[in-house]
Amino acid sequence: MPTSETVRIAAVSDVHYAKASQGSLLPLFAQITEHADILVLAGDLTDYGLPEEARVLARDLTAAVRIPVVAVLGNHDYEAGQADEVSRILMHAGVHMLDGDAVELHGVGFAGVKGFAGGFGRGALGPWGEPAIKMFVQEALNEALKLESALARLQTPHKIAVLHYAPIRETVEGEPVEIHPWLGSSRLEEPLTRFEVSAAVHGHAHKGAPEGRTSTGIPVYNVALQVLRDSYPDRPHFRMIEVPREPEPAPGGEPRPHGRRAGDREPLISRVPGAPAAADAD
Ligand SMILES: [Fe+2]
Ligand SMILES: [Fe+2]
Repeated sequence: MPTSETVRIAAVSDVHYAKASQGSLLPLFAQITEHADILVLAGDLTDYGLPEEARVLARDLTAAVRIPVVAVLGNHDYEAGQADEVSRILMHAGVHMLDGDAVELHGVGFAGVKGFAGGFGRGALGPWGEPAIKMFVQEALNEALKLESALARLQTPHKIAVLHYAPIRETVEGEPVEIHPWLGSSRLEEPLTRFEVSAAVHGHAHKGAPEGRTSTGIPVYNVALQVLRDSYPDRPHFRMIEVPREPEPAPGGEPRPHGRRAGDREPLISRVPGAPAAADAD
């Protein structure tokens, strides 16, 4: 059960709900609602981006989840060209859909974007040459800018970035190296560093690695359902991130200080349920 000392954030992604998925993840959603305060779904909510698939997921979330849900879309949710309708259906079911937006829940800030591809580090695609290449790179830059402006709106000591594409190479390792550039973009890492987020979660790389860190040490979790299943077959398939709960300001008391630095806050804890908790340095 949620404790008073921490806010428990359960994260999973790539549930790929199809027309025939009704009920398939009800046990997982019920387990999460019992043990966490907030559920994060990091994209590929549906298989083909069909409104009918979104309605199936919305029914399961409504049936089993009694905690706030934060989500971003994934590339699969765009396949049918009806991403807006997919979002609308899930918002109608109470899900906080983030696309360059931010939301604060239980004193924890969440900023979300889908993100985009383009590769990592020195291998990242640059905006040079043909217009098609420049447009491709611009899409990743636009997503990074959306993430940055969403993070800028948050004043909470702990900020969690929710992405579908990976911001670092480390959590896509395990996938064939030929497809690494299509699994994420280093351009998504810069806003995480600038705004000193406590952690980032993403999916998309179904065969990637469950944990990594940015160049400045920010923990990044690949919470794709398939990664959690493969990495921790005997444990529930979600990542639990525990954030120290902020004390409620006393009535008429000092407002919460804005713009606190990462060093001012308590460290978070993350684990896959069933495993011993490991404290993450910020
Ligand atoms: Fe996926
Ligand atoms: Fe994906």
